Amino acid sequence: MPSLVLAAPAKINLLLAITGRRADGFHDLLSVVAALDLADTLAAEPASEMSLACDDAELPAGAENLVLRAAAAFRRETGWGGGVAFRLQKRIPAGAGLGGGSSDAVAALRALNQLAPPDRRLHQQGLTRLAAELGSDCPLFLAEGPVVLRGRGELIEPLLPTEVARLRGRRLLVFKPAFGISTPWAYARLAAGAPSSYWPAAAAEAWLARWRADPAAPVEALLRNTMEAPAFAKFPALPELLAQLQAAAGVEGRMSGSGSACFAFLPEGMPVAPLVALVRSCWGPSAFVTEARIA
Ligand code: C5P
Repeated sequence: MPSLVLAAPAKINLLLAITGRRADGFHDLLSVVAALDLADTLAAEPASEMSLACDDAELPAGAENLVLRAAAAFRRETGWGGGVAFRLQKRIPAGAGLGGGSSDAVAALRALNQLAPPDRRLHQQGLTRLAAELGSDCPLFLAEGPVVLRGRGELIEPLLPTEVARLRGRRLLVFKPAFGISTPWAYARLAAGAPSSYWPAAAAEAWLARWRADPAAPVEALLRNTMEAPAFAKFPALPELLAQLQAAAGVEGRMSGSGSACFAFLPEGMPVAPLVALVRSCWGPSAFVTEARIA
């Protein structure tokens, strides 16, 4: 079996409404997510055992890495005893709310499902269940195109083709300060705040329905993220830069997921260099900043 090379795309949350806390400790949400052309690359080659090499020395490449956790879960689920040597080339920053680790895990599941003998392979339903077990953000990476998420992120509704067409190919600036934000920390802060820090599900659904019903509504009418409140309270550098981008270029920036990465849609033809310079002057030279498009 020849080796495989898969793209593991980043995602952004165009809409992220945390609607309440559940009895199992997780949170219910309503989200619209879209994959970007910004992606990690995962190469997978048949081998005697499972291993991972990663070009980013800062990232743990041991058993706790989501790629190897995906491999262990796949072997347990299917009973397959084979091995795969994974090589991961990172481009998506970690601790960003861009789903990089989750996407790598799903790319690993896809690779394993192709490299395993046919009688050990999982169907879509099995893959989705395994992905949900690995992380709330994982199942979305099994879907094609922008989708609506509900539950704790595992219930996936594809957008209609006309809705997808309003998003696909749109140009963005994606930027992240040198620090990351831990997802459990962000949820814990939300849970510790007033009950009003949640967005009631009915109101969030109405917000989404309004955007879906109006083909002329700009993408900015969809953008909202309830996780900004705890993140912005703790890290004022985030809202400060978004305000400066708005003032300098008239673009509306939003945080993705639990942060710390943010994004802003850019009109075609708007020069990106002044925006990159603004990000770096606010957040320092080690800030991550890149242009991207919705895949
Ligand atoms: O599922 P995942 O491992 O990405 O979740 C990390 C943490 O984020 C969970 O342990 C939980 O604290 C929080 N979380 C949540 N509700 C979600 C997703 C994540 O409370 N829907």
